[in-house]
Amino acid sequence: MSDVTPFFLSGTPVTGDDTLAVTSPWDGSIVGEVAVPTDAQVEQAVADLHAVRHEAQATPAHVRAAALDHISARLAERAEEIAALITAENGKPLVWSRGEVSRAVSTFRWAAEETRRFAGDLQRLDTDAAATGRMAVVRRFPRGPVLGIAPFNFPLNLVAHKVAPAIAVGAPILVKPAPATPLSALLLGEIIAETDLPPRMVSVLPVPNEKMSSLVADPRLPVISFTGSGPVGLSLQEQAPAKHITLELGGDAAVIVTADWPDLPAAASRIALFANYQAGQSCIAVQRVLIDADVYDAFVPELVSAVEALPTGDPTADGVQVGPVINDAAAERITSWVAEAAEAGASVLTGGTREGRTVAPTVLADVPGGTKIAEEEVFGPVLSVTRFGDLDEAFAMVNSSKYGLQAGIFTTDVRTAFRAHRDLEVGGVIVGDVPSYRADQMPYGGWKQSGVGREGLRSAMNDLTEERVMVLTGLDL
Ligand code: SIN
Repeated sequence: MSDVTPFFLSGTPVTGDDTLAVTSPWDGSIVGEVAVPTDAQVEQAVADLHAVRHEAQATPAHVRAAALDHISARLAERAEEIAALITAENGKPLVWSRGEVSRAVSTFRWAAEETRRFAGDLQRLDTDAAATGRMAVVRRFPRGPVLGIAPFNFPLNLVAHKVAPAIAVGAPILVKPAPATPLSALLLGEIIAETDLPPRMVSVLPVPNEKMSSLVADPRLPVISFTGSGPVGLSLQEQAPAKHITLELGGDAAVIVTADWPDLPAAASRIALFANYQAGQSCIAVQRVLIDADVYDAFVPELVSAVEALPTGDPTADGVQVGPVINDAAAERITSWVAEAAEAGASVLTGGTREGRTVAPTVLADVPGGTKIAEEEVFGPVLSVTRFGDLDEAFAMVNSSKYGLQAGIFTTDVRTAFRAHRDLEVGGVIVGDVPSYRADQMPYGGWKQSGVGREGLRSAMNDLTEERVMVLTGLDL
C-alpha cells in the first residue's frame, strides 16, 4: 500500500502524478507525503462544483446539519490522532493542537445549529395602500461555489471556518490548504467524505501556490474566502475585482493594561502566554502591550518573568507551550527584525535569539517607530511594551496601526470598556483578557489592512450568501 495521502476530489480519495513532502518544523523529519492534483483533476473538481451548485443549495437542512454534526462527532472521536498530526506538520505544541481540534469540533457543531436556524425573514409590504395584500419573503441563497484558501497556522480550524459555513448554506467549496500543512485538511476531507452530502460538493486539493491564478480567475468560483498574508490577499482583489472576496489578513494586536486592573500578575501571565502561543503565529497573538505609566514599572518585570517561565522546545513534549516557527525563513526574518529594532535603540528585555527554528520568547521596550517590529505583523514570539499617560493616548496608540483585527483591555471600569468598544478601530474588543480570545461562533475579522468581511459561523453564512426577495401578492393579511 502506498504511503501517499490522497486528496479529496469531489468526495473521493484520489492521487495525482506528483507528490509533496510535508516536514516537521521541529526537526525537519518527513511527516507525510501528499498527492498533488494534476491540472485535469483540478478542472474536474471545479466543473463538479459548478454542476452540483443547484443540488447543493437544495439539499435539505436536515442532511446538511446531520453532515456537520457527523464531522463534529468524528473530529471529537479522533481528537488525539488529529492533534498529533497538527503538531507534526505545524510544530505547535500538543496542548495548542488539542485546543485547535476542540475548537474545530465546536465550529462544526455551531454550523449544524445555525443550519437549522437559517430561514430568512418576512417583510410586510402592505404599509402602503398600493401594496395591500402583498408580503415579501427574504431568504439568502449561496452566491455560488467557493474557493477557500487556508493558512498554515491553524491547519484544521481555519479550514473548518471555510468548509463549515459553506456546507451550512449549501454552497459547494474547493478548499486549498497551505502547502506546509495539508495533512489535517486532508484528514478532514476523509471525514467529510463519510457524510451523505452530494459528493461533488466538497473537494480538498493541495494545489501548488504557483498554480492558483487560474482558479482565482475562474468565473465558476465567484466567491473567494482567503486567510493569510496581506500582500497575497490584496493581490487576490486585484486579480479578481468582480468576485466576492473575504479576506482575513494580519494584525499586530494590542492589549491595554489600565491601572484599575486588580491582579497585574495574572494579566502579565495571560499576556505572556498569548504573545507566545503557537510561537506567536496567530493573527491575534499579542504584539503590543500598552501599560498605564502608573503601573508600568511594577508590571514590566512581572511580564518579563512570565515570558521567561514559558516552557519552550519540543512541541510533542508534555508541558511545552512554545515550539518552533514554521520554517527557517520565518525564524531568520523574526530575529532579524528584533536585531533591527535593537540597533535602532530598542531594549531587548529578554530573548532575541534562536536555536534553529525555535525563536526565544522575546520582550522589547522603547521600540522606535519606523522599525519593522513597530510597523508590521511579527507573526513570531515577540512583544513590545510601551507606557501611556491616559486612555486617549492608549487608544490613539492602538489606532495608529495600519491593522485592526482585535484588541484587549484589562479594565474593570464598564465606562472604559464601552469607550474602547466605540473608539478602537478593530473587529473585536476583549475586555478583561487578551486580544487573542476567539470563540468560533462570534464575528471575527478586521478593519483597515486586517481584512474585509467576517468569519464566525453566522457571519460567514451571511457572507457566502446574498438576499433574494420573493413578493407574494393577493394575500389576505
Ligand atoms: C488567525 O490567526 O487569524 C486565527 C486566530 C484564531 O482563530 O484563533
